Amino acid sequence: VSLKNLNTFGIEAKARFFVEINHEDELTELFMDQQWQQTERLILGGGSNMLLVNDFGGLVIRMNIRGIEHRINHTNVFVEAGAGESWNELVNYCVDHNFAGMENLSLIPGSVGASPIQNIGAYGIELKDVFESCHTFEIATGNFKTFNKEECQFGYRESVFKSALKRQYIITTVKFRLSTTPNLNLSYSAIEQELNSRGIIQPTLKDVSKVVSAIRVSKLPDPSTIGNSGSFFKNPIISAQQFEAVQQNYPTIPHYPGNNGGVKLAAGWLIEQCGWKGKTIGHTGTWKNQALVLVNHGGATGQEVYNLSSQIIDSVYSKFGVMLEREVNIIQ
Ligand code: EPU
Repeated sequence: VSLKNLNTFGIEAKARFFVEINHEDELTELFMDQQWQQTERLILGGGSNMLLVNDFGGLVIRMNIRGIEHRINHTNVFVEAGAGESWNELVNYCVDHNFAGMENLSLIPGSVGASPIQNIGAYGIELKDVFESCHTFEIATGNFKTFNKEECQFGYRESVFKSALKRQYIITTVKFRLSTTPNLNLSYSAIEQELNSRGIIQPTLKDVSKVVSAIRVSKLPDPSTIGNSGSFFKNPIISAQQFEAVQQNYPTIPHYPGNNGGVKLAAGWLIEQCGWKGKTIGHTGTWKNQALVLVNHGGATGQEVYNLSSQIIDSVYSKFGVMLEREVNIIQ
């Protein structure tokens, strides 16, 4: 089975076996199969945060569980969505119903089921700010288990599903806690500027969603025309001491407070400073408006994109002494 249309990088890779899951019961059925424990598995949502370096010799499980439901309790709204729903369609559903909290996460590619895994985030909001719980299937036992927010151990583009419990659970539905009373986060100057330029003084949820979408469209390539997986690397967090040393040589370096007293740097800036922005190397390259995004100009192999990412890591390290970490899941 070709996976080309199932990964937003548009990499031509094949899966040996493929199954689509439309209901939780189908996971239980798969578990009963004799071969389940021996077969290597790859769980696929929107395929928007992975790089397929080779063909996949195991079973690809495409999560297609649908459905969005909500329940209002005073000013809280609990919205539950199937893992296979598109993230942006969920955001639109909430914005249309005036449920506040995820408007800044408009137009992020990918599926609802993938969203907790790397704690997706943009424009001052992270998934964890609206997350209530998720329902999961345990691969080793076939049991279902609910994880609350604390159990998910969310961090910057991190969760327990990427660390201690990596590849052990399949997320089937996610529940969010939103609000009927908006509490807009306009802390990013880009949002404020865009609202001003449209003459919007008292923005609604819809306004914020539209403005965020417009900013994303202007900076990020549309995966339906140019293959990509959004930010390829995480923004690195370094110690305050290391930051001081780097800042002495590069006084204009963008930086933000990181966790535990560290300093977060803008990986896109570091990469641009190394001369990579907008460069084409073979069938791949970095995006002209955002160097943190690696693209497939057509016909790139996963290995080619991976090699470029290694070259970028090396050059950023030799210029700044800062080690970039890949944010995209590398499937070898
Ligand atoms: N910058 C450059 N050159 C570039 C790109 C960025 O100098 O080529 C500078 C910008 O001028 C700015 C700073 O770097 O000073 C930050 O850039 P930007 O606001 O575009 O955000 P980012 O840090 O590059 C992060 C997320 C994005 C998210 C945006 C907005 C990560 C890895 N990326 O990007 O998330 O949309 O902030 O909140 O944290 C994703 O994860 O796939 C993603 C797109």
